[in-house]
Amino acid sequence: MNLVLIGFMASGKTAVGRRLARRLGYGFLDTDQLIENEIGCTIAQFFEIKGEAAFRHLETKLADHLSSLRNYVVATGGGILTTPGNLERLQKAGMVIFLKADQEEIIQRLERDVNRPLVKKGNLRETVERLNAERLPEYSRSDLIIDTRNKGVNRVSGEIIRLIADHLTKQDNPPDANPPDEEPKATGAG
Ligand code: S3P
Repeated sequence: MNLVLIGFMASGKTAVGRRLARRLGYGFLDTDQLIENEIGCTIAQFFEIKGEAAFRHLETKLADHLSSLRNYVVATGGGILTTPGNLERLQKAGMVIFLKADQEEIIQRLERDVNRPLVKKGNLRETVERLNAERLPEYSRSDLIIDTRNKGVNRVSGEIIRLIADHLTKQDNPPDANPPDEEPKATGAG
């Protein structure tokens, strides 16, 4: 089984993904890193030269290939679900987990960031609020949602491990569609 982490920029997908992979003994991949290896420059440079659409095309091609992996944790770029069909592509690869970070925490982290092309220009708060509002409905269609507010990497990865275990147990033991008749109640004393 693979675990695919999604969520807004700076929501901790890479840090949590690495820790989760280590704890589970899984491999770890980061789609942004793989794309940078392929294009031979930074994503910010690629956005400048080729534009966002060309980046989304590479991202989607990669999403298609993820289903050939076994026992990997994959951290994805925050805009991966803006391409229609990508949630389904990721779900083919594994369980999709949304790291739901607090918007103020995201803004604080991005204030120090110089690498992410979508927040380099304009008003940071306005951009984050707009993109987050646009993307939240898509992120929320994930298989699991983890609220990461005020939580460190260890705690978030621990919660993910527990929730996956619960999720898999429920899948193995679905609630019985035709439960047996209620047991006859004991009557009288005794
Ligand atoms: C993007 C997020 C980035 C990267 C690219 C576009 C986005 O990844 O894929 O800059 O559209 O939100 P992170 O979520 O790792 O920052």
